[in-house]
Amino acid sequence: MTAEEIRKKYLEFFEKKGHKAIPRALLVPQDDPTTLFTGSGMQPLIPYLLGQAHPEGARLVDSQTCFRAEDMDEVGDNRHTTFFEMLGNWSLGDYFKQDQLTWFWQFLAEELKLPKDKLWVSCFEGDEKAGVPKDIESADIWKSLGVPEERIVFYGAEHNWWSREGLPEHMRDGEPGGPDSEVYYEFTQVEHDKKYGEKCHPACECGRFLEIGNSVFMTYRKIGGKFEDLPKPNVDFGGGLERIAAAVNNDPDIFKISLIKPMVDELEKLSGKGYSQHQTSMRVIADHLRAATWLAVDGVAPSNKQQGYVMRRLLRRAIRYAFDLGIEQDLCDKIAPTVINLYKNDFPEIAEREKEVLEIFGREERIFRQTLRRGLQEFDKILGVKSTGLFDTGTTPPPMRSIMYGPDIFKLYDTYGFPVELTVEEAHRRGIELAGGWRSEFDHLMFEQRQRSQTASAGMFKGGLADHSPEVVKLHTTTHLMYQALKNVLGDHAVQRGSNITAERTRFDFSHPEKVTREQLDEVEKIVNQKIDEDLPVTWKEEKTDEAFKKGASGAFGDKYGATVKVYTIGEPGHPFSREICGGPHVENTGAIGEGGKKFKITKEEASSAGVRRIKAVLE
Ligand code: ALA
Repeated sequence: MTAEEIRKKYLEFFEKKGHKAIPRALLVPQDDPTTLFTGSGMQPLIPYLLGQAHPEGARLVDSQTCFRAEDMDEVGDNRHTTFFEMLGNWSLGDYFKQDQLTWFWQFLAEELKLPKDKLWVSCFEGDEKAGVPKDIESADIWKSLGVPEERIVFYGAEHNWWSREGLPEHMRDGEPGGPDSEVYYEFTQVEHDKKYGEKCHPACECGRFLEIGNSVFMTYRKIGGKFEDLPKPNVDFGGGLERIAAAVNNDPDIFKISLIKPMVDELEKLSGKGYSQHQTSMRVIADHLRAATWLAVDGVAPSNKQQGYVMRRLLRRAIRYAFDLGIEQDLCDKIAPTVINLYKNDFPEIAEREKEVLEIFGREERIFRQTLRRGLQEFDKILGVKSTGLFDTGTTPPPMRSIMYGPDIFKLYDTYGFPVELTVEEAHRRGIELAGGWRSEFDHLMFEQRQRSQTASAGMFKGGLADHSPEVVKLHTTTHLMYQALKNVLGDHAVQRGSNITAERTRFDFSHPEKVTREQLDEVEKIVNQKIDEDLPVTWKEEKTDEAFKKGASGAFGDKYGATVKVYTIGEPGHPFSREICGGPHVENTGAIGEGGKKFKITKEEASSAGVRRIKAVLE
């Protein structure tokens, strides 16, 4: 059974149990300034888990694309990936433990035909500090389903409590969480590795067990350091599609499932090398390019900030590892189409973006290959050697420096994409010593770097608004007027490709094949100023996404929306001037923009990238 078939079966199974299938959310959260990526299926549903009514009802199911940047350095073993699909089903205050555990069990045993004697389950042991009791109820349900007592284990919060921030004490105020019950698959062919502890058990990290599903009983919300009951208890289930597929294959290597193996096959072909001898490199390349492709589909481009920075690291690491396999050019060109083929039937947006994805990757690869060559030279420079390259196997003159320090290793890693273990290996090969304490120095630099890529500075995620000051809010509404005016003057092909608004100016990118003439800009200015003078009302309403689009609301190119969206209307609802999907905030009437005699003025029009123009405009 392929992973694609498992996904389909899961969605259909839960649809039969009264669930509505909802579309995945983007990998870049649209209205959540606290996090860079969608890392779990529940993340886009938080408002509904907290009690808001969902337009599709109280039973939902989906397959959510997820990305966890924090796992990047773990990739290389047989089960860690940064990108994965999380199969999810939710009860928003509807069914609870009995139905959830029964249905998931039926899905595993009857639909997927997993052998029951390889399935183990865990339940929450209780946490006195958090005031949450032992979950006897779930254990009893598992027993009634036929799970023998010896395969039911109890763990504390370290394994069986779920929130986005982990343990109860790590949760921020307002965050929902609760005890969970997990299912594990046992690969009986894998011997326990005592490095991970004397005795093996389901949550042991040795690789014999793999967690394949987690039913979170989302019951609490942290308020003022204490746990309060949510208005209604929810079920938040998440199961990694790739892991479930590995269990169905009875092969612990996730990289052999139908959604990844074709990439590995292609890498073998390209490099002329075998997977079994080059597992780490091929796994890193496959994972990173799969993740980078999805990020590109969802609108991310490599840069030095936030999501773009993470994507750049993915691509660079992939290219760096490919270099070791002897793949010295066109890696992305060869591998990205394989990824696209794997998903395009089930996610049409990936095929639609193929051309852009390949362009982004090609550019980044060209830039980085030059950087890489400089990196090889840098390695030598650090050591004070004049050799031809890092992998020079000829006779290398003795280096002037015979010791490397944490910052050297970090620089090679961060700037040039050299995997740490490769630097370490190469240093050993050349007889270079690593300074005592290099690891903790390196870890410290890594920690600082993670902080940089994880903390989202407020504002970056509010639709490109620097803040919510009156100036920014006025320019935000002005930008909506300008977007509509651009469509009126240039045509409907002028679609938003990005925006950035500060107190001083608005910057707006949109698709248009040629320079916008001064006459056209004057026309846009005229329309916007006229709409400001008309003092039109600005109102918003939550609408079902497909209806919003049907009624002609504008969105931003490449954006994907949840089941409902907030639509801002400028003008009388009967004959609005503009309707746009947006999170706000806006002025209440356009007249507010012109207060103090201010007029809208376009100060600059230039190319932003191929087929995309950029306008800067002010109120003065
Ligand atoms: N939200 C739960 C998880 O991510 C299901 O594991």
